[in-house]
Amino acid sequence: MNFFKRIFKSEPKLEPLDLSVLKTDLHSHLIPGIDDGSKSLEESIALLKRFQELGYSKVITTPHVMSDFYRNTPEIILSGLAEVKSAIEKEGLEIEIEAAAEYYLDDYFEDLIAKNNLLTFGDNYILFELSFQNPPTRIKEVIFSLITGGYKPILAHVERYPFYFNEWDTLEDLRNRGTNFQLNINSLSGQYGPQVKKMGQDLINRNWIEVIGSDCHHMRHLDSINELRTNAHLHKISKKTELLNKFI
Ligand SMILES: [Fe+2]
Repeated sequence: MNFFKRIFKSEPKLEPLDLSVLKTDLHSHLIPGIDDGSKSLEESIALLKRFQELGYSKVITTPHVMSDFYRNTPEIILSGLAEVKSAIEKEGLEIEIEAAAEYYLDDYFEDLIAKNNLLTFGDNYILFELSFQNPPTRIKEVIFSLITGGYKPILAHVERYPFYFNEWDTLEDLRNRGTNFQLNINSLSGQYGPQVKKMGQDLINRNWIEVIGSDCHHMRHLDSINELRTNAHLHKISKKTELLNKFI
């Protein structure tokens, strides 16, 4: 294949995937007004309707918890969840919703782990994220406290951190310490950049992804997932029988 053909080579397009095989979406921002996701109850309902149309039967939504910007407590998150649930009922939607959180790794998160004051989902799973700018200095300690506290850590959108691009030994070490990896479906479109896309593909090819998620903040994220239904890597990861989305 010549140089130009290689550069512009388009990925094979498959038959659009029926997303109902995934069952549950495990990363999103659908509680209105408490983070940078949905801004109103109407928007949350429109998004949930779209999840349902795409084939999902459940979402476990994960508002940001971050000491500097989003000090969301379990009470704030769960009272927002109750509002969304009653609106779902009023609108006659069939999709189920639960809530956990996406914890940013900071001192506040470490306090919450020490106090056992965390929102988990399924069998004590906990979703956490890192800064995109600075490599974490305390990730090993945090994973250790989570594991010894009986939690099952999931690192959110593992493919998006520039300091982990092609750092396979570091990533393998995190896995050996008990970390599960979550991939954003939209990383496969290239919308977060070509390196993120490549990392996403490589992680799927290595079979290092346990969870996939929409990380939905607004409707454009779901439009893009709809388009990705023909994507070969999304097909590949969706065939994985142990994918956590299917069991929760
Ligand atoms: Fe997120």
